[in-house]
Amino acid sequence: MANTILVGAQWGDEGKGKIIDVLTEEADIVVRTQGGNNAGHTVFIGKQKYVLHLVPSGILRQGKLCVIGNGVVIDPVGLVGEIEGLVALGIKIDSNLMISETAHLVFPYHREIDAQREILKGKNKIGTTKRGIGPAYGDKAARTGLRMIDLINPSRFEPMLRQKIKENNEILKAFHAAPLSFKKVHDAYRAAGDKLRPFVTNTVVKLHEASRRKASILFEGAQGTFLDIDHGTYPFVTSSNTTAGGACTGSGVPPNRMDRVVGVMKAYTTRVGEGPLPTENAEIADMLHNMGREFGATTGRARRCGWFDAVATRHATMVNGIDELAVTNLDGLDSLETIKVCIGYRYGSLRVDYVPNDIETFSKCEPIYAEFQGWKTPTDQVKQWKQLPAKARSYLKAIAELTDAKLTIASVGPSRDQTIFL
Ligand code: GDP
Ligand code: IMO
Ligand code: MG
Repeated sequence: MANTILVGAQWGDEGKGKIIDVLTEEADIVVRTQGGNNAGHTVFIGKQKYVLHLVPSGILRQGKLCVIGNGVVIDPVGLVGEIEGLVALGIKIDSNLMISETAHLVFPYHREIDAQREILKGKNKIGTTKRGIGPAYGDKAARTGLRMIDLINPSRFEPMLRQKIKENNEILKAFHAAPLSFKKVHDAYRAAGDKLRPFVTNTVVKLHEASRRKASILFEGAQGTFLDIDHGTYPFVTSSNTTAGGACTGSGVPPNRMDRVVGVMKAYTTRVGEGPLPTENAEIADMLHNMGREFGATTGRARRCGWFDAVATRHATMVNGIDELAVTNLDGLDSLETIKVCIGYRYGSLRVDYVPNDIETFSKCEPIYAEFQGWKTPTDQVKQWKQLPAKARSYLKAIAELTDAKLTIASVGPSRDQTIFL
């Protein structure tokens, strides 16, 4: 397989984990390049459900090398817990996992400040996962962060952490929050550091060595296009570049080594957290929630749901350079009489055909819908394109065309074998 960047084309939770798992069959290496354990990527193997937060989803397939790249922010205690959880489920994790020595660390003060800022914002809160992601990337940009390479060097780590705890306890005091104990944090992090040391390496060099041996690399995007710090619905975004460029900066593999970009999108739209979602619709949300679907894989929050937004996905094609589309959760629409697709926005008397940068403008955009007839037939057992109801094929073709990219995968259920290749 060619080197492939996989990105979410909507607001996250598009089903990237499932598609990564499917594409991993053809890849040698799977790399996470941004985000942290705010991500929750679900993979089903048979009846067994796995939710990956920091470990690349490729770990579930034997013989694949998995890399946590330099662009990821790592909560080392969380990562150890995740690895131990996977091992308990029978997943082998040893030389098949590498962690970048320059990846930044997430500390308890990042999580606490994340939570306190949300409280302070009140009704204007972002609705973060409270995993400390924003404050950790903030420290990275401010050049005051600690990295994996510091964690595995005990004599260096201790004074650095002591200084950070001192500084952050002052900040926590201003929030009237309880201070952190240096000793407690130090002990927990040093223990995690010892467990993670065997995996920590110069992943940039390792990836280039593998590349010279013609290994094919799959870049596992986290979050989605509209949560991108530059291209998303700022400030209702996460703190990393979730779009295709993030795969390069977050791994050290340059743009001219990338062969294709696959965009994953649901056949409808979901979002968890605050911020504009023009096609949000209570009826479709109730329908999906009553089916037991669309609850967050990381926080368990009910996801907001709406109709497919082609203005947004077309924008995603543009900023990511999406060549191929994987549409998931087609089966979620199986029971509907009529299906709506947003093909433009109305802003006052104006028609808008792109995603406005101004958040207030975007919040006031009303969707303009085209309607499609539902197929009202279960699709979850369909294995081939031709077996899909004609109306489902028309719908898929239409949303791919509106998105301006080539449809190559349609997913009709969470399992590997519920995947239709075109
Ligand atoms: P990710 O963050 O993009 O990996 O997505 P999540 O795992 O957070 O959420 C996607 C949800 O949809 C998970 O529960 C998946 O198991 C599920 N899923 C993925 N593709 C399909 C599909 O085609 N049909 C159904 N029914 N579920 C799917
Ligand atoms: P995956 O990889 C969906 C959302 C949060 C919040 C905003 C900022 O599973 O698709 P953060 O904790 O990152 O500071 O929160 O981003 N968010 C996600 N939404 N899927 C994710 O990851 C997300 N990661 C963060 O809900 O709105
Ligand atoms: Mg998710």
